[in-house]
Amino acid sequence: MVDFGFDIKHLFPQPIIRVQPHSLRPKITQLQHHHCSLTGNPQRRHLTLPSCQLSQILDVMGKLSADAQGLRHPVTTADKLTADQVVYLMADEAAGHWAITGLLKVGTKDLFLFDQEGCCRRANQTPAILDFYVHESRQRCGQGKLLFEWMLEQQGWSARKCSVDRPSKKLLAFMGKHYGLVRTIPQGNNFVLYEGFFDGPITKCNTVRELQATSRFRSQSLARDQTQLSIRNGAHSGHFRRAIANQESELKTSLHGRRRNEPRTFASTTCIQGSRGRSSDHN
Ligand code: ACO
Repeated sequence: MVDFGFDIKHLFPQPIIRVQPHSLRPKITQLQHHHCSLTGNPQRRHLTLPSCQLSQILDVMGKLSADAQGLRHPVTTADKLTADQVVYLMADEAAGHWAITGLLKVGTKDLFLFDQEGCCRRANQTPAILDFYVHESRQRCGQGKLLFEWMLEQQGWSARKCSVDRPSKKLLAFMGKHYGLVRTIPQGNNFVLYEGFFDGPITKCNTVRELQATSRFRSQSLARDQTQLSIRNGAHSGHFRRAIANQESELKTSLHGRRRNEPRTFASTTCIQGSRGRSSDHN
């Protein structure tokens, strides 16, 4: 477990708490009020605010998680937490005092994904597992399952519908053991999807055909505008021609560029690359 230089009990009315950005950044007025109501060194007083303590916990746990995964930079820090992300923190008093045992960061992402037929789809607001860590002293005791189940319940998600950002070997084993999730759908990015991801109503997707139709419609509208402008001005408008070309190339890059330029990754391989750059692959 991870101890801090302050008592964490008051932060945990139950063993797992939900942390969002608004619970981390203390408001200026809150800080001023706190300074006024206390004597002593005001510079250090704000460190006793729950929001500051939670920020410290996130930073320390984020660093431990990164170390455990061999990442160069933490995926989780208080500063980096965005409005569409939530961190679940777990603690217990097994050691005779309250200590932090785990962290799970999740969020939603708009992603271009390949389905089982290899068709590229745009999936909006995809549930994503971003960072998951249980302290070494507590691993393989069911703590991870406890935390993950709690998160699924709170988010209203199912494990099969979650994308997982560059899972470690331990997490792949975890998903297999607890949720029977083994068969993956190969992707062109860092995310791992499991078979069944595209089943049912939860995932809202646009197929490539729909995306191309939207792009064609936009191009046609631009071309129409260009013609009208050319007629009015009696001149060619290079700007509009370039705008049409840009739109079409943007869509092509999103849909096909990944396939051409990046290796399609498989959950069973260790060569998944990208934002969660590992310095070595220990997991
Ligand atoms: N080797 C292989 N599989 C493991 C290991 C390990 N060292 N540790 C956990 N697992 C898997 C196994 O399937 C294990 O079942 P088993 O013991 O019967 O083989 C199962 O997880 C245990 O389940 P729990 O006890 O509920 O999970 P735990 O508390 O160990 O938490 C977690 C799982 C979070 C993956 C933990 O092992 C951990 O923190 N690992 C280090 C950091 C890490 O790799 N995090 C995931 C990064 S990827 C991402 O965050 C998107």
